[in-house]
Amino acid sequence: MIISIIGASYVGLIIGVCLAKAGNEVALIELDLQKVDAINSKRSSIYEEGLDELLNKVRIKVNSDYKEIENSEVVFVCVGTPSNEDGSIVLEQIENAAEQISKVLERKDEYCVVVVKSTVPPGTTEDIIIPLLQKSGKKVGEDFGVCVSPEFLREGKAIYDFMHPDRIVIAGYDQRSIDVLVTLYGDFNAPILQTSLKTAEMIKLASNTFLATKISFINEIGNICKQLGIDTYEVARGMGFDGRIGSKFLNAGIGFGGSCLPKDLGMLIARARKADYEPGILVEVSKLNEKQALKLVELLKKHVVLKGATIGILGLAFKPGTDDVRDSRAITVVQNLLQEGAMVKAYDPLAGENFKKLFPQVEYVNKEEVLNSDAILIVTEWEEFNHLDYHGKKVIDGRRILKAREASVYEGICW
Ligand code: UDX
Repeated sequence: MIISIIGASYVGLIIGVCLAKAGNEVALIELDLQKVDAINSKRSSIYEEGLDELLNKVRIKVNSDYKEIENSEVVFVCVGTPSNEDGSIVLEQIENAAEQISKVLERKDEYCVVVVKSTVPPGTTEDIIIPLLQKSGKKVGEDFGVCVSPEFLREGKAIYDFMHPDRIVIAGYDQRSIDVLVTLYGDFNAPILQTSLKTAEMIKLASNTFLATKISFINEIGNICKQLGIDTYEVARGMGFDGRIGSKFLNAGIGFGGSCLPKDLGMLIARARKADYEPGILVEVSKLNEKQALKLVELLKKHVVLKGATIGILGLAFKPGTDDVRDSRAITVVQNLLQEGAMVKAYDPLAGENFKKLFPQVEYVNKEEVLNSDAILIVTEWEEFNHLDYHGKKVIDGRRILKAREASVYEGICW
């Protein structure tokens, strides 16, 4: 099929190269010219396992010209949906994409399907996107189709996750729209759930919000266990054997970050409140997550006077396997250390450059140098941190690096 993808960040770029690999003709439309140049020179602006290799294998067109849509059969909307302070969605990129598509639809005769992949609150496609598309004078369900098909890609594993989905959710304005997408995804070996537009929007938000809730749950259990002298990880192991609970996402620590879980949790809270419902559990999940990273600094203060001290940070990325620092727990930790008058030395195998844009005043050193500090905080569980010599050090561990237990002072956030 002939496909256009609007937005070449995480989701857009990944589905672009994967659909190109599956034999489709793919054009990426991206307004950020730096991203366009990077992709055209076969260098991705993001770190993803297997992406550079795929980029060099497939043919994919990248530019900033919406004209590409003119001969597309499917147009994916993969633009960003950042949040306002209250968690509600900033619709600017979505509205701009819809208006640009609408301008092309006006002069386009062949049928095409617009597929919303961006994470949006339930009701956005029907209430905002379709009316903007129909400004073209064309009729949804007749002249063009509309689908909502959310992605469930994890950063760092996005290509694997695209190629091995647990499920494919396809919502359509009408059956013809759905049939086009089912054909496109045809050869994926995964259950395809066909549903309504706002149900698909809600499945995405509810899935991510559940993952966030599961993490805050195990962190709450961890905080209780720490008070009772019980090992949370043993508890989690015992829980995980229950098929209804599952063993994944039961790693207690300093909480969840990244560009999705915190944002999507906030988006659902805001959407619920807009519908006059106060989502008490979800609000507590968010509050606990904010407090969890602060807990690491509180534990540190039991062992070190922070003012004038040099504190080493191991790990800055929001999780291992990525260079992404968006909403990383390290941001809260470093902010607090600096506010308390400490000097900070930090190391991360991938994320140092990105973190330096946020905290130029931090000293970025190698991991051995980080160990030469008054105390060390472990913030991201990179595998290499299991191979350091912690003897004689003071370590407060936010991510369960067992080797660190050899330190002269060791304390875990939830253990
Ligand atoms: C998440 C969802 O997993 C994915 O399905 C969705 O499409 C996008 O958002 P991602 O943001 O890449 O993916 O990260 P994920 O692997 O889910 O981890 C999110 C955060 O939770 C990280 O900060 C991680 O450290 C933390 N986490 C994860 C825990 O603290 N404990 C756990 O047990 C698992």
